[in-house]
Amino acid sequence: MWGRPPKAPPPRNRADAETESGRPRKDKVLTGHKTFLIKTYGCQMNVYDSTRMSDVLAPHGYVETGDVEDADLVILNTCHIREKAAEKVYSELGRIRDMAGARASAGRDTLIAVAGCVAQAEGEELMRRAPAVNIVFGPQVTHRLGALVARAQNGERVVETEFPAEDKFKHMPLARRATIAARGPTAFLTVQEGCDKFCTFCVVPYTRGTEVSRPVNEILAEGRRLVDAGVREITLLGQNVNAYHGQDGRGRACSLAGLLGRLGEIGGLERLRYTTSHPRDMDDELIAAHGEMEKLMPYLHLPVQSGADRILARMNRGHDAARYFDLVAALRAARPDIALSSDFIVGFPGETQAEFEATAAMVERIGYAQAYSFKYSPRPGTPAAELGEQVPEEVKAERLAHLQALIHKGQDDFNAACVGRTLAVLLDRKGREAGQLGGRSPYLQAVHVRAPEALTGTIQQVQIRAAGPNSLAGEIASHPDRRADKERPEPRKGDGGGYRREDARP
Ligand code: 5AD
Ligand code: SF4
Repeated sequence: MWGRPPKAPPPRNRADAETESGRPRKDKVLTGHKTFLIKTYGCQMNVYDSTRMSDVLAPHGYVETGDVEDADLVILNTCHIREKAAEKVYSELGRIRDMAGARASAGRDTLIAVAGCVAQAEGEELMRRAPAVNIVFGPQVTHRLGALVARAQNGERVVETEFPAEDKFKHMPLARRATIAARGPTAFLTVQEGCDKFCTFCVVPYTRGTEVSRPVNEILAEGRRLVDAGVREITLLGQNVNAYHGQDGRGRACSLAGLLGRLGEIGGLERLRYTTSHPRDMDDELIAAHGEMEKLMPYLHLPVQSGADRILARMNRGHDAARYFDLVAALRAARPDIALSSDFIVGFPGETQAEFEATAAMVERIGYAQAYSFKYSPRPGTPAAELGEQVPEEVKAERLAHLQALIHKGQDDFNAACVGRTLAVLLDRKGREAGQLGGRSPYLQAVHVRAPEALTGTIQQVQIRAAGPNSLAGEIASHPDRRADKERPEPRKGDGGGYRREDARP
């Protein structure tokens, strides 16, 4: 299962452009160093993978740049989940090829690499379609990136889409403390990859392979390292994160609830989240953890895709609508204020108007704090793409608009109900205006607060004064004189085409 990042990817910084003291050097590009830029598409797994690519490149003397024209190595970390996402890659490659041509005229070489799920799915075909590309590598070989770049520098066109037997995480360097610190107080940590569920619409089992869980000790070590460098909130990632069953130190399988419990023992770590979960793997222990673990935030992305039993069966989801309602009831019994989020697909092959209406009724009945919805997009090689009864585009568009209106209404209601409450906000970024910081509520809402920069990385009690469709504004409760009325909640953004926080709703 894929989901969205709980926030925009943290700005990655120049890993190597730091002195040992951790202070950034003044010079933009270190002499003799090469520069790279990673453009990330798709889900938060890709965001995490891009961070690890930076960590792999750093010891090879690569310094991150924010300016694509300045980059000696451009990596597109791609998403294959819907056709639109995959096609974006080719248009971007066209632009980068032109830019590389201009750089070549000025005597500067550019290596172009395509990573992620489009790379995995298309491999050699991508090389044929985009001759300017030098390296194509799948998500399982990130740890070998240094060697792949070296081969490309020698003129080879490299395609690496194998699923190697070795544990890639073991072979990847952890970022330096100062590098982690500069990435901010929230971090992703991949604990599980791949998916064995084979929903009939989804490419993930083909691009990311079967379910693999990282061992507990490896995750704990990475978690401690993050917290030691100043991280206060960790979001555990996995395509099916709640199917986690990694080995503990004694060789026994550990559940996600068990893993959360172990991570919760790390002193200094204040918040834990996990995404994305499958309803079938939502066990009692994990539901109970939501009522028992203070550090586990009251927010859960639990995609259901459809509210109609026949469509759920055709999607091979392995549960019906009643089971989903039961799960939601159990979660709310354990943690009454839990905020729920979901993904929906409209216009799955054969979906009738009445079946669509069952989905709409589900959205209204559950009252999601937020949700993402997509038009069904046939993906090559998946069973649903072969089904007859494909729903016409205009019907899909109409259903999507209807569903999104309901979702937006639910989100507006959820946000409006927060006005007047005091919420614990982890201030994790600069605000849009000077003197402002941005943060996240326990329910993952973006919150704008007037606050000094020194409070970045701290959790503050914030009195919520105003709510917009995509964010809240408030003032720090201990400073009642700080007027937050000036903070404006964000206007509504577009929806439906993607699932990154930047191009979907929060
Ligand atoms: N068409 C439309 N949406 C899809 N998703 C996955 N595959 C497809 C597809 N072929 C959606 C699902 C999933 C989310 C990440 O993307 O809702 O949960
Ligand atoms: Fe999620 Fe189903 Fe795709 Fe697996 S196959 S990643 S469960 S949507």
